Amino acid sequence: MAFPPSFLEELAARNPIEEVVGQYVNLRRSGSNLFGLCPFHGEKTASFSVNPEKGIYYCFGCHKGGSVINFQMEIEGLSYPDAVRALAKRAGMEVPEDAQYQNRYHQQERLWALSKEAARFYHTQLYSPAGEEGLAYAQKRGMPKSTLTRFGIGFAPNAWSSLCDAMMAKGYTEEELKQSGLASTSQKTGKVYDRFRNRLMFPIIDVRGNVIGFGGRVMDDSTPKYLNSPETVIFNKRKNLFALNLAKKSKLGYMILVEGYMDAVALHQYGFDCAVASLGTSLTEEHAALLSRYTEQVMLIYDGDDAGQNATKRAIPMLEKAGLQVKVLQMRDAKDPDEFLKKFGADRFRLLLEESSNRVEYQLRAIQKKYDLREDDQRIQFIGEAAEFISTLGNAVQREIYGGRVAEAAGISADSMKIEVNKAFKRRISREKKKQERIDLSPAAGHQPKDRHIRYDNIKSAMAEESLIAMLLREPALLSSCDGLSQELFSSQLLGRVYEQLVQSFGQGIEVSLASLTDFSPEEMSHIALLLQRHDGPVSEQALADCIRTIRTEHQMQTTKSAKNNDDLLSFQKQLLARKGFKT
Ligand code: GTP
Ligand code: MN
Repeated sequence: MAFPPSFLEELAARNPIEEVVGQYVNLRRSGSNLFGLCPFHGEKTASFSVNPEKGIYYCFGCHKGGSVINFQMEIEGLSYPDAVRALAKRAGMEVPEDAQYQNRYHQQERLWALSKEAARFYHTQLYSPAGEEGLAYAQKRGMPKSTLTRFGIGFAPNAWSSLCDAMMAKGYTEEELKQSGLASTSQKTGKVYDRFRNRLMFPIIDVRGNVIGFGGRVMDDSTPKYLNSPETVIFNKRKNLFALNLAKKSKLGYMILVEGYMDAVALHQYGFDCAVASLGTSLTEEHAALLSRYTEQVMLIYDGDDAGQNATKRAIPMLEKAGLQVKVLQMRDAKDPDEFLKKFGADRFRLLLEESSNRVEYQLRAIQKKYDLREDDQRIQFIGEAAEFISTLGNAVQREIYGGRVAEAAGISADSMKIEVNKAFKRRISREKKKQERIDLSPAAGHQPKDRHIRYDNIKSAMAEESLIAMLLREPALLSSCDGLSQELFSSQLLGRVYEQLVQSFGQGIEVSLASLTDFSPEEMSHIALLLQRHDGPVSEQALADCIRTIRTEHQMQTTKSAKNNDDLLSFQKQLLARKGFKT
């Protein structure tokens, strides 16, 4: 559905982009832009720009960009209408709603409320006769009352409908119980029953403090050991981390990422209040991006078994891609952090943390593990692979130190190793140079949109079209000087569509900014924000006329060119036919 453009314009005006972004990013002014660290990809130098006058943001690092609405969507993971709603709420505005969206929003709010009620219910059960066994189990696992309170841990009684009954008494419907994943329907009777029974319950709470799901643990060896909430309108395992609501407030300056709920809980209990756990799924890019909003350094502690090691290998590049520094802690003398802490205590754990290797050490060890260094040919392969890896390190001192270690492990001299690393380094540089040359050779590559789907066919015309759109977005009144220019003359389909929307709104007496452009994908919005940043020249009738002239000429040439192609084809066919003795 479309919100009315006039509403969107007011929404943008009442939510200055620098204020909205400023809630999440520290911005510094530099000329007409404000700059800060990009909240979407984790970085050390500020390539994230906000232009208050144009009402846009754009990151020169990860190429995300758009209006204040796009920002709200991206940063809070909201749908378009929800982002509009959040901004309206922020500015105290009423939202013209259509019933369908109103329902969905309402549904979310109901499910959040229901989940919070359910968490309260489970938590109280822990201290009731029905929860005796649960409390005993929690105590057996070494959780004092303070921990149970802090995490809101609870107990689902061993009964078929205790939660459903309690929630329906509070006015929630069977339908809502099913939508929340807290209840299922019996195939036989068609009645709803509690999904979680006779389990210790861990509420999963998002960074805004909403209860969005649960993990429930059995108290014996039966399976499944953990039962999690299914994916629902409010629960997405790929985008949330257990305990992040607490860990984001930690003063420790890094985050610990573990596999198990119990590990995260134990770490908090022993003072490491920066621990989070994934929700029984492997780590996703969304998780990595989420973490990078709150920290720059992640300590990865996965179980010592093969599955844990494989998960570690997968997680490292994902976290690094999000701009995070990664350290890896190898679990020793215990299977997981929970067991370790309870056996040896916080001080011994702190020692482990200090010993934890950085990524380079970890990676080299992983490479070494693949080879039997007593065999000559395997040793040679090891040296080759290690040299290749070391050559990727940006710093000469690092290359020297780690090269020396590999040399020692492989039983060769440090000098020979250095030669190997240099060779690998040169091989890589020449590979990269070739790649760069290919990029440089392609014409005007720099101006091409990052997204393949919006590539320009005619760069010259597209630049004029970009410049024109940029001027019109800043100075909509100039539309009255665009007589005779129409969508079909644009070489870029996307820019033609933008122009068309501007014309239409202008016709309705609305001066359009980026925020009221609808029907454009996030990639398209990012590109439009980029072109606004790119075309910063003076806005004038003269400049506008120049753009229009270029667009026309290019269009004309394109038309004659394709006409000529047609003519060429026609005359070629005629020749062919003539040669074959046909009369034409
Ligand atoms: P404890 O055995 O209580 O110490 O559990 P833990 O926290 O150490 O968890 P474990 O290392 O066994 O598993 C890690 C995580 O994987 C758990 O926190 C769950 O999120 C998930 N998990 C474990 N077992 C199951 C299961 O049977 N089903 C599902 N869906 N997830 C599971
Ligand atoms: Mn465990």
